Amino acid sequence: MLEVMEMKDALVLGIESTCDETGVALVRGGQLLADRTATSMDEYARYGGIIPEIASRAHLESFLPTLDVALEESGVQLSDVDAVAVAAGPGLVGSLTVGICAGKALATSLGVPVYGVNHVLGHLAVDELVHGPLPDKFIGLVVSGGHSNLLLVNNIATDVRELGGTLDDAAGEAFDKVGRLLGLPYPGGPHVDRLAQQGNKEAIKFPRGLSGGRDKERYRYDFSFSGLKTAVSRYVKAKELRGEPISKADICAGFSEAVNDSLTAKAVQAALDHDVKTIVVGGGFSANSRLRELLTERASEAGIEVRIPPIRFCTDNGAQIAAMGSQLVRNGVQPSTLQFSPDSQMSLGEMAMA
Ligand code: KG4
Ligand code: ZN
Repeated sequence: MLEVMEMKDALVLGIESTCDETGVALVRGGQLLADRTATSMDEYARYGGIIPEIASRAHLESFLPTLDVALEESGVQLSDVDAVAVAAGPGLVGSLTVGICAGKALATSLGVPVYGVNHVLGHLAVDELVHGPLPDKFIGLVVSGGHSNLLLVNNIATDVRELGGTLDDAAGEAFDKVGRLLGLPYPGGPHVDRLAQQGNKEAIKFPRGLSGGRDKERYRYDFSFSGLKTAVSRYVKAKELRGEPISKADICAGFSEAVNDSLTAKAVQAALDHDVKTIVVGGGFSANSRLRELLTERASEAGIEVRIPPIRFCTDNGAQIAAMGSQLVRNGVQPSTLQFSPDSQMSLGEMAMA
């Protein structure tokens, strides 16, 4: 077991394999030494979505080469590693299994502890590697293809409370679905974002889910994007029926505004309600240009600081898992036992597997 003195500078190897990215990173304390990622995303364009069995096989093929290049980049030896952190969930079971088996095997052969960590919390933990120590208390907004969550974080390693999440689609998922509806390539998110920047966001007013009447209070920190997606679909069909042309740019702009209005209003509200001065954003959807703009604008009006890692740390990566592992080690959290399995539904209040 690591001594307290060593914990602060422990060298943590992080492994990410929740979805289509195979990530390996090395972190010492709050400092990133190396971060390498391989992705199988190109294989899914023709299917219009991720095929879990292809993703699992790709992890198996990519893991050792990715580990090798990460070690080379870091300048450390595998034998220097003090702890292994591996994403245990949420994610695709087959994909997670590959990373977990690799992580357990490495930890066992090195004689070091293994932590099965929460991938979603890693999206927030990674910000320390870029912007320095995390604040004592912050609101976490995690937005990706699978998640849209608001979290109250008192300590990322020991005390996280889920305030709310999406009742149906995640923000990225809703963008991908609207992309498909408009005939854009998969994944649609970045394409919808690009078109939205060219359109007029006032031209079409789409509904904001859970933001009026009784729902506003009952679902104070929750999101719902499926009604919005249906509204876009109805709008397009009605135009087609009447033989009228559509402006994809205006549709994307109006849709993007509706999603980002909900996300940013609720994130700022959560910070004000909990007397928190910082919002940390993570997840692939934080690449969205309007989210960055609107959140920064609204938060600054409310005297709240916004921290968003650079895009390469927002999409799934090994650094987020190593950063989360490093937090667990430094906070003296017990490692996981070797018996843990992937947890595709891992709760956001659970930092690491028991
Ligand atoms: O976190 P991530 O890389 O993967 C997981 O879902 O775990 O997020 C990918 C999601 C996809 O739905 C993708 O379309 C969306 O984030 N996305 C975007 C943008 N860039 C990526 N959505 C809107 N605007 C973007 N610029
Ligand atoms: Zn993710």
